[in-house]
Amino acid sequence: MRSDPLHTRLCDVLEMELPIVCFTHCREVAVAATRAGCFAVLGEALRSMEEIERDIRWVRDQVGPGFGIDLVLPARAPRDASPEEIYAEIPSEHLSFAEALEARFDVPPPTNEVVLRKWGGNNKKIARAQIEMVLDEGVPVIATGLGAPDFLYDEAKARGIKMIALVGATRQALAQAERGADMVVAQGYDAAGHTGGVGTFSIVPEIASKLPNLPVIAAGGITTGRHLAASLCLGAAGAWVGTAWLASLESDVDPIVKERILAADGAETTRSASISGKTMRVLRCPWTEVWDGDDAPQLLQSPYQMLLTSRYLQGANDARRADLMTEAVGQGVHFVREERSTAEIARSMADEARTILEGFRAG
Ligand SMILES: Cc1cc2nc3c(=O)[nH]c(=O)nc-3n(C[C@H](O)[C@H](O)[C@H](O)COP(=O)(O)O)c2cc1C
Repeated sequence: MRSDPLHTRLCDVLEMELPIVCFTHCREVAVAATRAGCFAVLGEALRSMEEIERDIRWVRDQVGPGFGIDLVLPARAPRDASPEEIYAEIPSEHLSFAEALEARFDVPPPTNEVVLRKWGGNNKKIARAQIEMVLDEGVPVIATGLGAPDFLYDEAKARGIKMIALVGATRQALAQAERGADMVVAQGYDAAGHTGGVGTFSIVPEIASKLPNLPVIAAGGITTGRHLAASLCLGAAGAWVGTAWLASLESDVDPIVKERILAADGAETTRSASISGKTMRVLRCPWTEVWDGDDAPQLLQSPYQMLLTSRYLQGANDARRADLMTEAVGQGVHFVREERSTAEIARSMADEARTILEGFRAG
């Protein structure tokens, strides 16, 4: 009998059936993806310690311990000031520009807690608390975007936790491998969220050729089985997928944003530093358009720009204003066309990839 072309070494390392890692912020999606044979990584970067503990325990109760947690922790965190103190340091020129934008687009003030202020990258103390919660809960896999503090690697290694580093450039991949990453996500320009300037088609084989001994996982624009098959052809041991689940039946993304996602194509996303101070791919919205325009002040660095954005975004989300809301969405969004179950998305991606790869063998 011929071997399954989708059974890669990543399947063995992460003990999963399909070479698909499901990145999601939604715990229901994480559970459904795990049950469908994927490995789920739950994004907890914007959650408090209590929320992180609650989510880990909830997912573990449903599917056991085989899932990971993702935190976004820039190596260069600001000094230990509270989000409010950092906000107070934002230059008046930027505050006035943001206020004028809010007035022009009639952005209502937030009515709920401002979620972006919970980000670990705002403050070393928050970052350390998030990390300690994940370590204490005994999660077997931790993924980090934008780098990670040394003590996290030291602690993870001591506890036998597998570390996944998301990178957007080959030099970052080499640096993270050197410090002990067990797997590297080669994330291309097409990807949702923080992303570098090299396309998926180039960055994946480049990193795979430099790190032949590590499982390299392709990310950025992978929304169909064709993309999954191509990832394996490029030398990846699997695919790290985010956008494809956003409009799934289990997803907790606001229905207004889901509707936009189902109608959008790649050109309706933009890679802008206006949200967080680092280049990030999101659906276009007034905030990205105005800040990326010629009249805007120079963008602030992270976390100042992130905190500046927080009022706009929370106000837009709380009022559920379709004209103002945005979300991290990748260029592969064109192929997200109907609200399907997470299992169906995983299954169709795997079936299509298998058919394509077996077709090569038959041919
Ligand atoms: C809504 C959304 C939020 C994201 N937030 C994070 C995050 O908090 N941490 C992280 O490492 N990556 C984050 N990402 C990026 C994903 O980890 C992944 O690299 C990306 O989605 C892959 O590209 P794709 O969206 O084209 O599949 C996010 C992606 C999406 C869709």
